[in-house]
Amino acid sequence: MKQRIAEKFQTLFHTEGDFYASAGRINLIGEHTDYNGGFVFPGAIDKIMLAEIKLNGTAKVRAFALDLDEYCEFGLNEEDAPAQAWARYIFGVCREIQKRGGVVGGFDTVFAGDVPLGAGMSSSAALESTFANALNELFNLGIDKFELARIGQSTEHNYCGVKCGIMDQFASIFGKAGHLMRLDCRSMEFEYFPFDPEQYGYKLVLLNSCVKHELVGSPYNDRRASCERVAKVLGQDFLRGATMDQLEAIKDQISEEDYLRARYVIGEEKRVLDVCEALGKGDYETVGARMYETHWGMSKDYEVSCEELDFLATVAQECGVTGSRIMGGGFGGCTINLVKAELYDAFIEKAKASFAEKYGHEPVVIPVVISDGARRLA
Ligand code: GLA
Repeated sequence: MKQRIAEKFQTLFHTEGDFYASAGRINLIGEHTDYNGGFVFPGAIDKIMLAEIKLNGTAKVRAFALDLDEYCEFGLNEEDAPAQAWARYIFGVCREIQKRGGVVGGFDTVFAGDVPLGAGMSSSAALESTFANALNELFNLGIDKFELARIGQSTEHNYCGVKCGIMDQFASIFGKAGHLMRLDCRSMEFEYFPFDPEQYGYKLVLLNSCVKHELVGSPYNDRRASCERVAKVLGQDFLRGATMDQLEAIKDQISEEDYLRARYVIGEEKRVLDVCEALGKGDYETVGARMYETHWGMSKDYEVSCEELDFLATVAQECGVTGSRIMGGGFGGCTINLVKAELYDAFIEKAKASFAEKYGHEPVVIPVVISDGARRLA
């Protein structure tokens, strides 16, 4: 990938730049909790977005998306917003840096990636983090890592139409090989947890249903609005910290739908903490049990699953897989599966065959390695 980028960069701009990368992410548990001020438990993975970048001394950005074979040129004022969705991520990062007082000039870039798009693995956060981190270094801006993550998040809010939480950008920026991170999205305190399932005889694998998950214009923002309505009735800023008893007490003041959404979120908060505690003891059975609970909570109460993902979680359960659930925002994408090593081959075979029989194509098997986040390549 680096080679292909370098060749294109040379052809387009007749020079060489620096290489920056940032990662996609998995999330073991803690879904739709970030914008509720709750806990998440993600890790960066070995699938990245990679960009070669060189400052060009003008006020224009010249960008080439290698995987899409598309070129775009734009200025750095608000009215210069490009039309292409991919370019808006880069433009948004520049604008959000400027809004924070950072001085950004023009640059040339070619980028590519191997984070599957629309699979719930945060390809867009990886792109934002790559550029936020790179521009911070190249323009000597001195922005701290949390603010870099927020720049990516604000890009989603203000230029891409998704009112996302902070998890994806946080994971992409702070990721560390061999570690998951438990982030408290209210206090923004976090802790690295060593994560090596293989040591305990387990494998972690994603199955991509290939149902395209598209958060832009999706009911993602509606879910967030439901949670905010319930929090308001409870007299809180966030759903974080609310109890099931409190929710029951206001049940007749909220809609049935909002009630179900809040019930899922309140349950999920406890599940994340349970999983962290279980991991510390090497108790992967508890980790897996909570993953299934999350799946069915997301499916029945939060209603962000789809038929294909429910099918994959059910096949996993039938094959004796320790834990399986829909991962990320939902509405398509992947399941994340924690599988005993000795069951792995049989599970993958069964999942592929039965899914293909029902939906006409196999799910894509994506093994993941927990890796570093945003970085400059040597
Ligand atoms: C998307 C968002 C995140 C988070 C997840 C669900 O990935 O970008 O902020 O809300 O969905 O956990």
